[in-house]
Amino acid sequence: MSTSDTDTQDTTIRINGPLPGVRAQAILARRDATSVRGLYRSCPIVADRATGATVTDVDGNVFIDLAGGIGALNAGHCPPEVTAAIHDQVDRLLHLCNIVGTYESMVQLSEKLHEIVPIRGPKKTLLCNSGVEAGENAVKIARYATGRQGIIVFEGAFHGRSLLGMTMTSKYDLYKRGFGPFASEVYRVPFPYEYREKPDGMSTQDFCELRIRDLKKALVAQIDPTSVAAVIIEPVQGEGGFIPAPPEYIRALRELTAQHGILLASDEVQTGFCRTGKMFAIEHTPGCGTEWDVDMVIMAKSIGSGLPIAAVTGKAEVMDKPHVGGLGSTYGGNPVACAGAVATIDYLREHHLADRANEIGAICEDYFRRWQTKHDVIGDVRCTGAMCALEFVTDRVTKEPNAVLPPLIVEEAFQRGLIMIRAGLYGSCIRSLVPLVITDVQLHEAMRALEAAVDAAVQRAASA
Ligand SMILES: Cc1ncc(COP(=O)(O)O)c(C=O)c1O
Repeated sequence: MSTSDTDTQDTTIRINGPLPGVRAQAILARRDATSVRGLYRSCPIVADRATGATVTDVDGNVFIDLAGGIGALNAGHCPPEVTAAIHDQVDRLLHLCNIVGTYESMVQLSEKLHEIVPIRGPKKTLLCNSGVEAGENAVKIARYATGRQGIIVFEGAFHGRSLLGMTMTSKYDLYKRGFGPFASEVYRVPFPYEYREKPDGMSTQDFCELRIRDLKKALVAQIDPTSVAAVIIEPVQGEGGFIPAPPEYIRALRELTAQHGILLASDEVQTGFCRTGKMFAIEHTPGCGTEWDVDMVIMAKSIGSGLPIAAVTGKAEVMDKPHVGGLGSTYGGNPVACAGAVATIDYLREHHLADRANEIGAICEDYFRRWQTKHDVIGDVRCTGAMCALEFVTDRVTKEPNAVLPPLIVEEAFQRGLIMIRAGLYGSCIRSLVPLVITDVQLHEAMRALEAAVDAAVQRAASA
């Protein structure tokens, strides 16, 4: 991309020369020499600093960030109120360990989570360091509280990369190959993936009933319901390709689990904190938090604007079952991360970023639908709030996944000043998790750049 294409006063993206630049290349070479090969990197950005929805690299190039730290930056890069709270905490107390004692920021964060998590009645919280750790603790608590061992998860799920997290995760080749044996007592059922699996002409309601029948069958064929501690669901699958579970499915799932005394946990690690147009994606199902609720909500990523902080919040009678000393970690809910998370939640609410997510989603969807009319390789467009994805196919009728285009698009997008990532069980999606503080002008600029990237990638693929 030549400088003249982007380097004007009224654009945010500024590319000074060939990418990656000279400084970036030198650091990338050092990364390759020192970081393990297993650590994937989506694009060759070497960041120096970032603000809002933009990242400046070590060569002075400015990018618009559509990856948002894989959904960790809903409040944007370095929101000033958050960095101020972190600075204040850093100067007073870095660490104590909440197994040793107490500091106010851990209490403040739990209190704040209890205001926003859509669970009725008394709640309790365990603070952790990462999404996978919060998910593992939800499993520990569910097993202890029910005295049962079985955990049911979904095809296409992603719950992290620890032994149990990886076991609960789907997409074998990428996340699991060579890493077994896996943990026991984890069972998997089909997710209500409408685009790929709903038979033509079938209503969403009927499809949800079909998928609930799959779950009922699993409770006969795979595990007895009296042995199941919990079902863990992403209300919108993240790594799986931004696939929303219809509200009809969530309600039926709640009813079925309740009938059998099975706990229901919503993994909101990627969907939480305004990303989908609500504070939590489970709230898209009507009556959540008022007429019905889940037992636990698993949170991480955008809770802390980039700090290592995560949480499980749940019904007090469930959360308080494990014995004293049975839960915890050295750093889980450390003072600095808690101060950052408290300020982040305030920021998300004060700036109405759930509403902003809906506006962003509407703008992205407009562009995506228009691209769909010119490229028949775009099989599906999915936007839940600002959780937006395009799914590519080789044939719209057979819906054969197209895993060739997404990496080409990411590459072309980078050359045009965008940071992006792929998704999908079949690796056939590109997704946007753009910081919700992006301005309309920046968003339109990013969409124009992405459109050019998609056009170029489609052309490259066709002539290959
Ligand atoms: C839904 C979901 N759960 C859990 C995780 C794991 O979180 P972490 O990478 O913080 O361990 C992720 C990460 O992408 C996720 O998207």
